[in-house]
Amino acid sequence: MSQISPVIAPSILSADFAKLGDEVRAVLDAGADWIHFDVMDNHYVPNLTVGPLVCEAIRPHALKNGKPAMIDVHLMVEPVDRIVPDFAKAGANLISFHPEASTHVHRTLGLIKDNGCQAGLVLNPATPIQQLDHTLDQIDLVLLMSVNPGFGGQSFIPATLQKISQVRKVLDQYRETSGRSIRLEVDGGIKVDNIAAIAKAGADTFVAGSAIFGKLNYRDVIEAMRQEIAK
Ligand code: DX5
Ligand code: ZN
Repeated sequence: MSQISPVIAPSILSADFAKLGDEVRAVLDAGADWIHFDVMDNHYVPNLTVGPLVCEAIRPHALKNGKPAMIDVHLMVEPVDRIVPDFAKAGANLISFHPEASTHVHRTLGLIKDNGCQAGLVLNPATPIQQLDHTLDQIDLVLLMSVNPGFGGQSFIPATLQKISQVRKVLDQYRETSGRSIRLEVDGGIKVDNIAAIAKAGADTFVAGSAIFGKLNYRDVIEAMRQEIAK
């Protein structure tokens, strides 16, 4: 378990897009912490979703106790840099990208920070964790993919648990030397019945799309997830 408070970040990929503002409000009212916003370009990943216009449209609906909730933008696009300022202007708080999709990872991280957002690096199931070397000072979050990116509703890849523990160690060591905490987010196939193991391995931030939006009562699922995390 990590030392920072757990965050549940529902992915709107599985929400009803015909009433997205309502869905965003409903899931935050039901106890979610952040909104996870999956951006796919039919190039880096074989699917096409939403862009800055939709981020801007949901921004006024993404409120928690009257204050802006975090919009956690997960970019599955290539190239990355062109679109970063657009998402910052559209109200994103945190922007994560896949290093394979950026020619100059250090430059892209700097660009995200220069645009006033927190920055995250996303590791695919087969991307080695050494990819984090030389980036820790620039990042606020590591996002570990527990499915291959591109689609909601896939099954959690069990080998991710070991990878979470390995990254947890790296981040704990970094906190000891720097005094700075970096979040460890996991994305893909997270359900009530596996979230305890994911938390135990060391994740503190949990993306769940189909597990939440696929159910009638969002509050029940989110509460059940929190209970499992606390186990
Ligand atoms: C996959 C996306 C995920 C996905 C999560 O490329 O990054 O955020 O939508 O959906 P579930 O929870 O259904 O796996
Ligand atoms: Zn995602």
